[in-house]
Amino acid sequence: MFSNLKEHPADKILALMQLYKDDPRPTKIDLGVGVYKNAEGVTPVMRAVKAAERKLVDEQTTKAYVGLAGDPAFADVMIDLVLGGAVPRDSIAAAATPGGTGAVRQAFELIRMANPSARVFVSNPTWPNHVTILNYLGMELVEYRYFDAETRGVDFDGMMADLADVRAGDVVLLHGCCHNPTGANLNLTEWKAVVDLLLKTGGIPMIDIAYQGFGDGLDEDALGVRLVASSVPECLIAASCSKNFGIYRERTGLLMAVAQDKGLRGLTQGSLNFLNRQNFSFPPDHGARVVTEILTDAKLRADWAAELEEVRLSMLDLRKQLAAELQRLSGSDRFGFIAQHRGMFSRLGASPEMVARLRAEHAIYMVGDSRLNIAGLNKTTVPILAKAIIDTGI
Ligand code: LMR
Repeated sequence: MFSNLKEHPADKILALMQLYKDDPRPTKIDLGVGVYKNAEGVTPVMRAVKAAERKLVDEQTTKAYVGLAGDPAFADVMIDLVLGGAVPRDSIAAAATPGGTGAVRQAFELIRMANPSARVFVSNPTWPNHVTILNYLGMELVEYRYFDAETRGVDFDGMMADLADVRAGDVVLLHGCCHNPTGANLNLTEWKAVVDLLLKTGGIPMIDIAYQGFGDGLDEDALGVRLVASSVPECLIAASCSKNFGIYRERTGLLMAVAQDKGLRGLTQGSLNFLNRQNFSFPPDHGARVVTEILTDAKLRADWAAELEEVRLSMLDLRKQLAAELQRLSGSDRFGFIAQHRGMFSRLGASPEMVARLRAEHAIYMVGDSRLNIAGLNKTTVPILAKAIIDTGI
């Protein structure tokens, strides 16, 4: 039986992690996978997470099953964090999932279950796993233009032109903030135009929000999601706690299904529960409980928000340093976009050959599409990267 299996192409981001690990050069710089690292190159456990975990160890009395949709208290705090009261709680069905990827997967399955002929419009480019999961599920995928290779900003006219083809019942996948892999994001005026287009076409938005708090701030990063959720008849939201709580390996996420018709909530909730049961039964609980503890305890919440803000500002600072150094070395403003982008990533706009040269000649690792993880840099490595970029002719 096993001999019938086919080789699967390696996930480019995860393969790069391995290449980096195997590189013996002590000067190597990892700008690959989307994991936050501080100036010492460490991905710390956040203070509030440690405190909440200690409390859990001391006070938790059972590890018995919770429920197919996870702990309702987790859904409540996450809905509040992401949607901030933009839509009434009783119009939202929600289920905890193994990480943001789990939420994305369950959302696609829900779409397929409700409308097998729905096409899913995804930005070109998007997080590669969006594409592979859709292909794996046999769902039809349509790309819409998103990145302007010239300005390294959003090709908004191209995006709107392509989304004009959306038919009623099709799904439009949007990144809530901190677009992965480009770092280029919609402004509020553009979000409003997207909402108008969705209302006109009958397209159903699905928003993947994995980096809330990494862009312009916790509430600022959620403005687009809140606008969409409060404006359209139905939408799906896949939220991740991996990055903003730094609990990557705990696999903590939430899928939300919002419907203006509150009568649909029970039916939708039942389907979310069913999908969880079929795929993994009960969702992981530890990370969700830590998040709930933090968000319901005023002191822990304030400490978490403060630490997250430090993380956000440190990435913003690195963006500014890199853009300034590149301006100094190139004598031009053509890298100004790095300071404009938000979140963990920026797409440099370099060719795969140039990315390979950065790796071979300078031991600098970024994803083949020239996505770099800003958080992989520090004061010392910013000038090294800037010089390597210029030397490579990018
Ligand atoms: C990334 O884009 O690097 C992260 O979301 C990690 C992953 O699972 O790909």
